[in-house]
Amino acid sequence: MTDVRQTDHSSSVESTGSTASTVLARLFRSEQGGHEQVVLCQDRASGLKAVIALHSTALGPALGGTRFHAYASDEEAVEDALNLARGMSYKNALAGLDHGGGKAVVIGDPDTLKTEELLLAYGRFVASLGGRYVTACDVGTYVADMDVVARENRWTTGRSPENGGAGDSSVLTAFGVFQGMRAAARTQWGEPTLRGCRVGVAGVGKVGHHLVEHLLEDGAEVVITDVRADAVDRITARHPRVTSVSDAQVLVRTPLDVYAPCALGGALDDATVAALTATVVCGAANNQLAHPGVEKDLADRGILYAPDYVVNAGGVIQVADELHGFDFDRAKTKATKIYDTTLAIFDRARTDGVPPAVAADRLAEQRIADRTPASEWLRPEGPA
Ligand SMILES: NC(=O)c1ccc[n+]([C@@H]2O[C@H](COP(=O)([O-])OP(=O)(O)OC[C@H]3O[C@@H](n4cnc5c(N)ncnc54)[C@H](O)[C@@H]3O)[C@@H](O)[C@H]2O)c1
Repeated sequence: MTDVRQTDHSSSVESTGSTASTVLARLFRSEQGGHEQVVLCQDRASGLKAVIALHSTALGPALGGTRFHAYASDEEAVEDALNLARGMSYKNALAGLDHGGGKAVVIGDPDTLKTEELLLAYGRFVASLGGRYVTACDVGTYVADMDVVARENRWTTGRSPENGGAGDSSVLTAFGVFQGMRAAARTQWGEPTLRGCRVGVAGVGKVGHHLVEHLLEDGAEVVITDVRADAVDRITARHPRVTSVSDAQVLVRTPLDVYAPCALGGALDDATVAALTATVVCGAANNQLAHPGVEKDLADRGILYAPDYVVNAGGVIQVADELHGFDFDRAKTKATKIYDTTLAIFDRARTDGVPPAVAADRLAEQRIADRTPASEWLRPEGPA
Protein backbone atom coordinates (compact mmCIF):
# COMPACT_ATOMS: atom_id res chain seq x y z
CA MET A 1 0.00 0.00 0.00
CA THR A 2 1.41 3.36 -0.87
CA ASP A 3 1.48 6.18 1.62
CA VAL A 4 -1.71 8.22 1.50
CA ARG A 5 -0.68 10.79 4.03
CA GLN A 6 1.85 12.55 1.87
CA THR A 7 1.13 15.20 -0.69
CA ASP A 8 3.81 13.58 -2.76
CA HIS A 9 4.69 15.83 -5.66
CA SER A 10 7.77 13.78 -6.44
CA SER A 11 5.56 10.91 -7.53
CA SER A 12 3.62 13.09 -9.92
CA VAL A 13 3.53 12.46 -13.58
CA GLU A 14 6.39 14.17 -15.44
CA SER A 15 6.09 17.89 -14.77
CA THR A 16 6.55 18.43 -18.48
CA GLY A 17 3.26 16.55 -19.06
CA SER A 18 0.10 18.53 -19.61
CA THR A 19 -2.61 18.92 -17.00
CA ALA A 20 -4.78 16.71 -19.18
CA SER A 21 -2.24 13.88 -19.18
CA THR A 22 -1.73 14.24 -15.42
CA VAL A 23 -5.45 13.97 -14.77
CA LEU A 24 -5.95 11.14 -17.23
CA ALA A 25 -3.05 9.14 -15.83
CA ARG A 26 -4.33 9.46 -12.30
CA LEU A 27 -8.00 9.11 -13.14
CA PHE A 28 -8.01 6.14 -15.49
CA ARG A 29 -4.61 4.47 -15.24
CA SER A 30 -3.62 4.88 -11.60
CA GLU A 31 -2.37 1.81 -9.77
CA GLN A 32 -4.06 3.37 -6.74
CA GLY A 33 -7.46 2.72 -8.28
CA GLY A 34 -8.03 6.16 -9.68
CA HIS A 35 -10.52 8.85 -8.79
CA GLU A 36 -14.23 8.93 -9.60
CA GLN A 37 -14.49 12.43 -10.96
CA VAL A 38 -12.37 15.52 -11.45
CA VAL A 39 -13.98 18.86 -12.24
CA LEU A 40 -11.97 21.73 -13.67
CA CYS A 41 -13.75 25.01 -12.95
CA GLN A 42 -13.26 28.44 -14.48
CA ASP A 43 -15.15 31.69 -14.01
CA ARG A 44 -13.50 34.33 -16.16
CA ALA A 45 -15.36 37.26 -14.60
CA SER A 46 -13.98 36.67 -11.09
CA GLY A 47 -10.71 34.98 -12.09
CA LEU A 48 -11.70 31.71 -10.42
CA LYS A 49 -9.72 28.65 -11.45
CA ALA A 50 -10.41 25.61 -9.32
CA VAL A 51 -10.14 21.84 -9.30
CA ILE A 52 -12.66 19.69 -7.46
CA ALA A 53 -11.46 16.10 -7.12
CA LEU A 54 -13.76 13.32 -5.94
CA HIS A 55 -11.73 10.24 -5.06
CA SER A 56 -14.58 8.05 -3.83
CA THR A 57 -18.26 8.28 -2.97
CA ALA A 58 -18.47 4.60 -1.99
CA LEU A 59 -19.31 5.51 1.61
CA GLY A 60 -21.37 8.61 0.80
CA PRO A 61 -20.94 12.14 -0.56
CA ALA A 62 -17.28 13.10 -0.86
CA LEU A 63 -16.27 15.43 1.99
CA GLY A 64 -13.14 17.58 2.17
CA GLY A 65 -12.07 21.19 2.41
CA THR A 66 -11.22 23.87 -0.11
CA ARG A 67 -7.53 24.82 -0.29
CA PHE A 68 -6.75 28.30 -1.67
CA HIS A 69 -3.10 28.44 -2.68
CA ALA A 70 -0.74 30.08 -5.15
CA TYR A 71 0.47 26.91 -6.88
CA ALA A 72 3.63 27.05 -8.98
CA SER A 73 1.69 25.52 -11.87
CA ASP A 74 -1.80 24.30 -12.76
CA GLU A 75 -0.38 20.75 -12.92
CA GLU A 76 0.75 21.05 -9.30
CA ALA A 77 -2.73 22.19 -8.29
CA VAL A 78 -4.37 19.19 -9.99
CA GLU A 79 -1.87 16.84 -8.39
CA ASP A 80 -2.50 18.35 -4.96
CA ALA A 81 -6.28 18.07 -5.36
CA LEU A 82 -5.98 14.41 -6.39
CA ASN A 83 -3.67 13.50 -3.49
CA LEU A 84 -5.68 15.41 -0.92
CA ALA A 85 -8.99 13.92 -2.12
CA ARG A 86 -7.59 10.42 -1.82
CA GLY A 87 -6.32 11.15 1.69
CA MET A 88 -9.83 12.30 2.64
CA SER A 89 -11.33 8.96 1.55
CA TYR A 90 -9.09 7.22 4.07
CA LYS A 91 -9.61 9.82 6.78
CA ASN A 92 -13.40 9.84 6.48
CA ALA A 93 -13.53 6.04 6.36
CA LEU A 94 -11.66 5.71 9.66
CA ALA A 95 -13.51 8.64 11.21
CA GLY A 96 -16.61 6.45 10.94
CA LEU A 97 -18.42 8.88 8.63
CA ASP A 98 -20.87 8.08 5.86
CA HIS A 99 -18.71 10.15 3.54
CA GLY A 100 -16.29 9.48 0.78
CA GLY A 101 -13.24 11.59 0.03
CA GLY A 102 -12.97 14.77 -1.98
CA LYS A 103 -11.05 18.00 -1.98
CA ALA A 104 -11.03 21.24 -3.91
CA VAL A 105 -8.21 23.64 -4.65
CA VAL A 106 -8.60 27.21 -5.81
CA ILE A 107 -5.57 28.34 -7.77
CA GLY A 108 -4.04 31.70 -6.86
CA ASP A 109 -2.88 33.88 -3.99
CA PRO A 110 -5.82 34.19 -1.58
CA ASP A 111 -4.56 37.57 -0.36
CA THR A 112 -4.96 39.15 -3.80
CA LEU A 113 -7.47 36.95 -5.63
CA LYS A 114 -10.08 36.13 -3.02
CA THR A 115 -13.28 38.17 -3.51
CA GLU A 116 -16.93 37.64 -2.71
CA GLU A 117 -17.62 37.31 -6.44
CA LEU A 118 -15.01 34.53 -6.75
CA LEU A 119 -16.28 32.64 -3.70
CA LEU A 120 -19.86 32.81 -5.00
CA ALA A 121 -18.73 31.52 -8.39
CA TYR A 122 -16.95 28.67 -6.60
CA GLY A 123 -20.12 27.99 -4.59
CA ARG A 124 -22.07 27.59 -7.84
CA PHE A 125 -19.59 24.93 -9.01
CA VAL A 126 -20.07 23.07 -5.71
CA ALA A 127 -23.84 23.38 -6.29
CA SER A 128 -23.46 21.92 -9.79
CA LEU A 129 -22.31 18.63 -8.25
CA GLY A 130 -25.71 18.29 -6.61
CA GLY A 131 -24.43 16.99 -3.26
CA ARG A 132 -21.78 14.57 -4.53
CA TYR A 133 -19.22 16.93 -2.95
CA VAL A 134 -19.43 18.60 0.48
CA THR A 135 -16.90 21.35 1.11
CA ALA A 136 -15.30 22.94 4.19
CA CYS A 137 -12.34 25.15 5.18
CA ASP A 138 -8.74 24.24 4.50
CA VAL A 139 -5.45 26.11 4.20
CA GLY A 140 -6.24 29.57 2.81
CA THR A 141 -10.00 29.48 3.45
CA TYR A 142 -11.81 30.48 6.61
CA VAL A 143 -15.21 30.31 8.30
CA ALA A 144 -16.17 33.70 6.81
CA ASP A 145 -15.36 32.39 3.31
CA MET A 146 -17.55 29.33 3.82
CA ASP A 147 -20.42 31.62 4.86
CA VAL A 148 -20.16 33.18 1.38
CA VAL A 149 -19.76 29.86 -0.50
CA ALA A 150 -22.79 28.50 1.39
CA ARG A 151 -25.01 31.21 -0.12
CA GLU A 152 -24.89 29.25 -3.40
CA ASN A 153 -25.42 25.67 -2.19
CA ARG A 154 -26.55 23.37 0.63
CA TRP A 155 -23.31 21.42 0.75
CA THR A 156 -20.94 23.84 2.50
CA THR A 157 -19.80 23.22 6.09
CA GLY A 158 -17.30 25.03 8.31
CA ARG A 159 -19.69 28.01 8.48
CA SER A 160 -20.02 30.39 11.41
CA PRO A 161 -22.48 29.59 14.20
CA GLU A 162 -24.53 32.67 13.13
CA ASN A 163 -24.99 30.97 9.74
CA GLY A 164 -25.86 27.54 11.06
CA GLY A 165 -22.29 26.31 11.24
CA ALA A 166 -20.16 24.80 13.99
CA GLY A 167 -17.32 27.35 13.87
CA ASP A 168 -13.84 26.52 15.18
CA SER A 169 -13.05 22.80 14.88
CA SER A 170 -9.94 22.81 17.07
CA VAL A 171 -11.82 21.85 20.27
CA LEU A 172 -12.94 18.47 18.88
CA THR A 173 -9.67 17.97 17.02
CA ALA A 174 -7.74 18.25 20.29
CA PHE A 175 -10.25 15.98 22.02
CA GLY A 176 -9.78 13.35 19.29
CA VAL A 177 -5.98 13.54 19.51
CA PHE A 178 -6.28 13.01 23.25
CA GLN A 179 -8.42 9.90 22.63
CA GLY A 180 -5.79 8.57 20.23
CA MET A 181 -3.09 9.24 22.81
CA ARG A 182 -5.05 7.34 25.49
CA ALA A 183 -5.24 4.37 23.10
CA ALA A 184 -1.48 4.58 22.50
CA ALA A 185 -0.82 4.73 26.27
CA ARG A 186 -2.94 1.64 26.81
CA THR A 187 -1.14 -0.22 24.04
CA GLN A 188 2.33 0.83 25.18
CA TRP A 189 1.91 0.85 28.96
CA GLY A 190 -1.31 -1.03 29.73
CA GLU A 191 -3.55 1.82 30.98
CA PRO A 192 -5.57 4.31 28.87
CA THR A 193 -4.29 7.35 30.72
CA LEU A 194 -1.44 9.81 30.46
CA ARG A 195 -1.24 10.14 34.24
CA GLY A 196 2.38 10.35 35.30
CA CYS A 197 3.60 10.58 31.69
CA ARG A 198 5.78 13.38 30.37
CA VAL A 199 4.26 14.72 27.14
CA GLY A 200 5.98 17.17 24.79
CA VAL A 201 3.66 19.32 22.67
CA ALA A 202 5.25 21.08 19.68
CA GLY A 203 2.94 23.88 18.56
CA VAL A 204 0.44 25.26 21.05
CA GLY A 205 -1.88 27.06 18.66
CA LYS A 206 -5.60 26.40 18.30
CA VAL A 207 -5.38 22.61 18.71
CA GLY A 208 -2.20 22.33 20.81
CA HIS A 209 -3.42 24.53 23.63
CA HIS A 210 -6.66 22.57 24.03
CA LEU A 211 -4.62 19.36 24.02
CA VAL A 212 -2.47 20.70 26.86
CA GLU A 213 -5.63 21.24 28.94
CA HIS A 214 -6.73 17.61 28.42
CA LEU A 215 -3.28 16.35 29.35
CA LEU A 216 -3.07 18.38 32.54
CA GLU A 217 -6.55 17.30 33.54
CA ASP A 218 -5.48 13.68 33.03
CA GLY A 219 -2.45 14.14 35.31
CA ALA A 220 0.34 14.36 32.73
CA GLU A 221 3.47 16.48 33.03
CA VAL A 222 3.62 18.78 29.99
CA VAL A 223 6.54 20.40 28.17
CA ILE A 224 5.74 22.77 25.30
CA THR A 225 7.40 24.70 22.52
CA ASP A 226 6.17 27.17 19.91
CA VAL A 227 7.83 29.64 17.58
CA ARG A 228 5.42 32.24 18.97
CA ALA A 229 6.33 33.42 22.47
CA ASP A 230 2.76 34.65 23.09
CA ALA A 231 1.40 31.15 22.44
CA VAL A 232 3.78 29.73 25.07
CA ASP A 233 3.11 32.56 27.55
CA ARG A 234 -0.67 32.07 27.30
CA ILE A 235 -0.24 28.53 28.64
CA THR A 236 2.53 29.03 31.20
CA ALA A 237 0.69 32.03 32.68
CA ARG A 238 -2.38 29.86 33.23
CA HIS A 239 -0.49 26.71 34.23
CA PRO A 240 2.84 27.55 35.93
CA ARG A 241 3.73 23.83 36.19
CA VAL A 242 3.95 23.58 32.37
CA THR A 243 7.56 24.04 31.26
CA SER A 244 8.80 25.22 27.87
CA VAL A 245 11.87 24.66 25.71
CA SER A 246 13.29 26.77 22.89
CA ASP A 247 12.33 24.68 19.85
CA ALA A 248 11.06 21.33 18.56
CA GLN A 249 14.61 19.95 18.09
CA VAL A 250 15.31 20.52 21.78
CA LEU A 251 11.89 19.12 22.72
CA VAL A 252 12.41 15.77 20.97
CA ARG A 253 15.74 15.34 22.80
CA THR A 254 14.16 16.15 26.17
CA PRO A 255 13.27 13.02 28.17
CA LEU A 256 9.65 12.36 27.14
CA ASP A 257 7.15 9.51 27.11
CA VAL A 258 4.98 11.03 24.37
CA TYR A 259 5.76 13.48 21.57
CA ALA A 260 2.80 15.40 20.12
CA PRO A 261 3.55 17.29 16.88
CA CYS A 262 0.84 19.96 16.66
CA ALA A 263 2.43 22.50 14.32
CA LEU A 264 3.39 21.88 10.70
CA GLY A 265 3.67 18.78 8.49
CA GLY A 266 6.90 16.82 8.03
CA ALA A 267 7.68 16.88 11.77
CA LEU A 268 8.94 13.29 11.72
CA ASP A 269 12.05 13.37 9.55
CA ASP A 270 15.08 11.07 9.80
CA ALA A 271 16.96 13.26 12.28
CA THR A 272 13.92 13.65 14.53
CA VAL A 273 13.14 9.94 14.57
CA ALA A 274 16.77 9.16 15.44
CA ALA A 275 16.75 11.70 18.29
CA LEU A 276 13.31 10.96 19.79
CA THR A 277 13.28 9.95 23.45
CA ALA A 278 9.51 9.38 23.45
CA THR A 279 8.13 5.92 22.71
CA VAL A 280 4.73 7.22 21.62
CA VAL A 281 4.11 9.81 18.90
CA CYS A 282 0.58 11.18 18.68
CA GLY A 283 -0.28 14.68 17.54
CA ALA A 284 -2.62 16.83 15.48
CA ALA A 285 -0.35 17.96 12.64
CA ASN A 286 -1.21 16.71 9.16
CA ASN A 287 1.34 14.74 7.09
CA GLN A 288 3.75 14.18 9.99
CA LEU A 289 5.82 11.53 8.20
CA ALA A 290 8.40 13.49 6.18
CA HIS A 291 8.72 10.71 3.59
CA PRO A 292 7.54 7.13 3.01
CA GLY A 293 9.59 4.75 5.13
CA VAL A 294 9.61 6.88 8.29
CA GLU A 295 6.72 4.81 9.66
CA LYS A 296 8.97 1.73 9.51
CA ASP A 297 11.90 3.56 11.12
CA LEU A 298 9.62 4.52 14.02
CA ALA A 299 8.41 0.94 14.42
CA ASP A 300 11.97 -0.40 14.23
CA ARG A 301 12.92 1.91 17.13
CA GLY A 302 9.97 0.62 19.17
CA ILE A 303 8.15 3.94 18.88
CA LEU A 304 4.37 3.60 18.63
CA TYR A 305 3.09 6.06 16.02
CA ALA A 306 -0.62 6.92 16.10
CA PRO A 307 -1.41 7.79 12.44
CA ASP A 308 -2.04 11.53 12.13
CA TYR A 309 -5.05 11.34 9.85
CA VAL A 310 -6.81 9.01 12.29
CA VAL A 311 -6.25 10.93 15.52
CA ASN A 312 -6.83 14.41 14.06
CA ALA A 313 -10.25 13.50 12.61
CA GLY A 314 -12.21 15.45 15.25
CA GLY A 315 -12.41 18.43 12.88
CA VAL A 316 -13.89 16.48 9.99
CA ILE A 317 -16.29 14.73 12.37
CA GLN A 318 -17.44 18.20 13.42
CA VAL A 319 -18.02 19.52 9.90
CA ALA A 320 -19.82 16.31 8.87
CA ASP A 321 -22.15 16.76 11.83
CA GLU A 322 -22.90 20.30 10.68
CA LEU A 323 -24.82 18.92 7.70
CA HIS A 324 -27.42 17.59 10.13
CA GLY A 325 -27.73 20.74 12.25
CA PHE A 326 -24.67 20.87 14.49
CA ASP A 327 -24.94 19.10 17.83
CA PHE A 328 -21.70 19.36 19.83
CA ASP A 329 -22.47 16.42 22.12
CA ARG A 330 -23.34 14.14 19.20
CA ALA A 331 -20.11 15.10 17.42
CA LYS A 332 -18.09 14.63 20.62
CA THR A 333 -19.55 11.13 21.07
CA LYS A 334 -18.36 10.28 17.55
CA ALA A 335 -14.91 11.77 18.24
CA THR A 336 -14.67 9.56 21.35
CA LYS A 337 -14.60 6.57 18.96
CA ILE A 338 -11.15 7.69 17.80
CA TYR A 339 -9.97 5.80 20.89
CA ASP A 340 -11.43 2.49 19.64
CA THR A 341 -10.28 3.06 16.08
CA THR A 342 -6.72 3.79 17.17
CA LEU A 343 -6.70 0.64 19.32
CA ALA A 344 -8.02 -1.39 16.36
CA ILE A 345 -5.20 -0.02 14.20
CA PHE A 346 -2.55 -1.01 16.74
CA ASP A 347 -4.11 -4.49 16.97
CA ARG A 348 -4.14 -4.86 13.18
CA ALA A 349 -0.52 -3.65 13.02
CA ARG A 350 0.50 -6.34 15.50
CA THR A 351 -1.49 -9.05 13.71
CA ASP A 352 -0.22 -8.14 10.24
CA GLY A 353 3.34 -7.34 11.38
CA VAL A 354 3.23 -3.90 9.78
CA PRO A 355 3.62 -0.34 11.12
CA PRO A 356 0.38 1.30 12.37
CA ALA A 357 0.36 3.71 9.41
CA VAL A 358 0.10 0.75 7.03
CA ALA A 359 -2.49 -0.98 9.23
CA ALA A 360 -4.61 2.21 9.20
CA ASP A 361 -4.57 2.31 5.40
CA ARG A 362 -5.58 -1.34 5.24
CA LEU A 363 -8.50 -0.83 7.63
CA ALA A 364 -9.69 2.18 5.63
CA GLU A 365 -9.44 0.27 2.33
CA GLN A 366 -11.38 -2.59 3.88
CA ARG A 367 -14.22 -0.32 4.98
CA ILE A 368 -14.36 1.40 1.57
CA ALA A 369 -14.29 -1.91 -0.33
CA ASP A 370 -17.01 -3.40 1.92
CA ARG A 371 -19.00 -0.13 1.87
CA THR A 372 -19.52 -0.63 5.61
CA PRO A 373 -22.09 1.90 6.87
CA ALA A 374 -21.14 4.07 9.85
CA SER A 375 -23.86 2.43 11.98
CA GLU A 376 -22.07 -0.90 11.65
CA TRP A 377 -18.53 0.50 11.80
CA LEU A 378 -19.28 2.44 14.99
CA ARG A 379 -20.86 -0.46 16.86
CA PRO A 380 -19.91 -0.56 20.56
CA GLU A 381 -17.06 -3.04 20.22
CA GLY A 382 -15.37 -0.76 17.67
CA PRO A 383 -14.19 -1.38 14.10
CA ALA A 384 -13.26 -4.87 12.98
N1 LIG B 1 -7.61 23.06 13.59
C1 LIG B 1 -8.09 21.85 13.32
O1 LIG B 1 -9.25 21.53 13.58
C2 LIG B 1 -7.18 20.80 12.70
C3 LIG B 1 -7.76 19.61 12.24
C4 LIG B 1 -6.92 18.62 11.70
C5 LIG B 1 -5.55 18.85 11.63
N2 LIG B 1 -5.03 20.04 12.07
C6 LIG B 1 -3.58 20.23 11.97
O2 LIG B 1 -3.04 20.46 13.26
C7 LIG B 1 -1.95 21.36 13.19
C8 LIG B 1 -2.21 22.54 14.12
O3 LIG B 1 -3.40 23.18 13.71
P1 LIG B 1 -3.92 24.50 14.45
O4 LIG B 1 -5.30 24.71 13.95
O5 LIG B 1 -3.68 24.38 15.92
O6 LIG B 1 -2.94 25.58 13.83
P2 LIG B 1 -2.41 26.93 14.52
O7 LIG B 1 -1.81 27.72 13.43
O8 LIG B 1 -3.46 27.54 15.37
O9 LIG B 1 -1.26 26.40 15.51
C9 LIG B 1 -0.01 25.97 15.08
C10 LIG B 1 1.00 26.46 16.09
O10 LIG B 1 2.26 25.91 15.73
C11 LIG B 1 3.24 26.93 15.90
N3 LIG B 1 4.40 26.59 15.09
C12 LIG B 1 4.60 26.79 13.77
N4 LIG B 1 5.80 26.32 13.40
C13 LIG B 1 6.38 25.80 14.51
C14 LIG B 1 7.60 25.16 14.76
N5 LIG B 1 8.51 24.96 13.80
N6 LIG B 1 7.85 24.76 16.03
C15 LIG B 1 6.96 24.95 17.04
N7 LIG B 1 5.78 25.56 16.83
C16 LIG B 1 5.48 25.97 15.59
C17 LIG B 1 2.53 28.20 15.51
O11 LIG B 1 3.18 29.35 16.04
C18 LIG B 1 1.15 27.98 16.10
O12 LIG B 1 1.04 28.47 17.43
C19 LIG B 1 -1.81 21.72 11.71
O13 LIG B 1 -0.88 20.85 11.11
C20 LIG B 1 -3.19 21.45 11.16
O14 LIG B 1 -3.16 21.15 9.77
C21 LIG B 1 -5.80 21.00 12.62
